[in-house]
Amino acid sequence: MAIVINSAALSGINAFMVSVEVDITRGLPSFNIVGLADTAVRESKERVRSAIINSGFNFPVKRITVNLAPANLRKEGSLYDLPIAIGILMATNQISFSNSNEYILLGELSLNGNINPVNGALTIVLEGLSKSFTKFIVPLKNAEECSITEKSQIYPFGNLIELINFIKYRDMLPYHKSKIKSKTKYKLDFSDVSGQTACKRAIEVAAAGKHNIILLGPPGSGKTMIARRIPSILPKLSYKEAIEITKLYSICGELNDNNMITRRPFRNPHHTCTKTSLIGGSTKLTPGEVSLAHTGVLFLDEMLEFNKNVLEALRQPLEDKTVMISRASGSVIYPSNFMLVGALNPCPCGFYGSSKPCTCTDYDRKKYLSKLSGPLLDRIDIFAFVNDIKYSDLTNREFENESSETVRKRINYARSIQKERFSKCNFYCNSDMKSEDIKKYCKLDAKSSSILEFVYNKYHLSIRAYNKILKVSRTIADLDKKENIEKEHILEAIQYRNFLNEHII
Ligand SMILES: Nc1ncnc2c1ncn2[C@@H]1O[C@H](COP(=O)(O)OP(=O)(O)OP(=O)(O)O)[C@@H](O)[C@H]1O
Ligand SMILES: [Mg+2]
Repeated sequence: MAIVINSAALSGINAFMVSVEVDITRGLPSFNIVGLADTAVRESKERVRSAIINSGFNFPVKRITVNLAPANLRKEGSLYDLPIAIGILMATNQISFSNSNEYILLGELSLNGNINPVNGALTIVLEGLSKSFTKFIVPLKNAEECSITEKSQIYPFGNLIELINFIKYRDMLPYHKSKIKSKTKYKLDFSDVSGQTACKRAIEVAAAGKHNIILLGPPGSGKTMIARRIPSILPKLSYKEAIEITKLYSICGELNDNNMITRRPFRNPHHTCTKTSLIGGSTKLTPGEVSLAHTGVLFLDEMLEFNKNVLEALRQPLEDKTVMISRASGSVIYPSNFMLVGALNPCPCGFYGSSKPCTCTDYDRKKYLSKLSGPLLDRIDIFAFVNDIKYSDLTNREFENESSETVRKRINYARSIQKERFSKCNFYCNSDMKSEDIKKYCKLDAKSSSILEFVYNKYHLSIRAYNKILKVSRTIADLDKKENIEKEHILEAIQYRNFLNEHII
């Protein structure tokens, strides 16, 4: 009779259960793996054979058939080495594992029998828990990430011999429990940034409502420095968000020595990056930078240096907050709900609007900025100008710069209002409001309405731009602890589009 071992396969950010069936019969010696397996799975034959022999067991000289069920779904990776090896040892009566059906096994074997880590182990544990499995045999190096879930009983092993000893003398080993390594402090703090009050305020508004923002300014004015400090003022991750982002990092094998991602991610891809690395989907359908920035910040420094079609690819994830990657090998959906922060110089020479004279013509400037297409610009809520810093701001020792923690307190307050406001919706930030929500929550009084009407007519604003001004003014009112949007709030929101209205459109 065939031996059945439980394992699982990854499909995007989710997993599904896989039964590894091992059947050994008499006949010409052969070793076949069936069930829509990719190259890495098929190569497992060689690893399993050597690992069994080098761990001191016999490899059967018989006809071995391994089936990965369900056979219609694609299986990738090397995580079936361990269940296949245990299945072969059980089928040849070299070990007895009576309650093997209670466990889920995953792990890659090396030729000398070591169990190597696999990507996506946490996702598999979470899927197993949802299917009422609680016991998991995993590689030692995946133990920390797997044991962050409360109900799971994780049994980690470094090599095949240790695992077989556990199977023989099971109750001698307690299961692995680890504490979540909570790294919530950021090294970079806003108190390092002198002056730049207007820019800091724009960043605060953007962070409070999760608005996309572009920082413009001359070289050396501090755009990169300020952007790198944004995660330090964003609200702390909730447990649900932390699990979601940890799953994504686990799939990519980027957890390093963390067992859980407890800080909002800050992704800063270089401007030479390709569409695939930004959006995701190499041959293995892995998540891209937009998904690794989920719940955090995607920072595009020197934004105009990016390839135009790479920038255009951002339009869909910015709108849908998810990316669907389709290739011949299948399609997967990854979350990509991030805050976009871009930094660029306002003109080719870099000094337009600063204290240094700009040598560019109007045509040069327009041509330079034309790389940012209309639809992409429409998805940006705030344009903040980062001016040269004054000498007095740099040397002023009288006032201490505000720390990130102080700013974060104000942002937390604004976010708590938004959470309550959208408690019955499937989003939680002002920037995610659709037009019907804007109508409901962004009502203007007569004065504010006439100001907006004037700007709308003067700059021939699009409806999207009009909605953006309303959304940003809602956030400003929330920061101001006001229930209604007032004149000052709408004026400040309009001012965040000045650069766009006057120089690009
Ligand atoms: N407001 C500030 N307070 C303190 N230091 C600053 C400030 N602005 C800039 N600096 C210093 O200047 C350096 C250069 O700033 P940064 O790299 O952020 O400029 P940038 O605007 O990104 O320039 P570029 O357009 O060339 O990329 C920073 O590393 C920092 O040391
Ligand atoms: Mg820079």
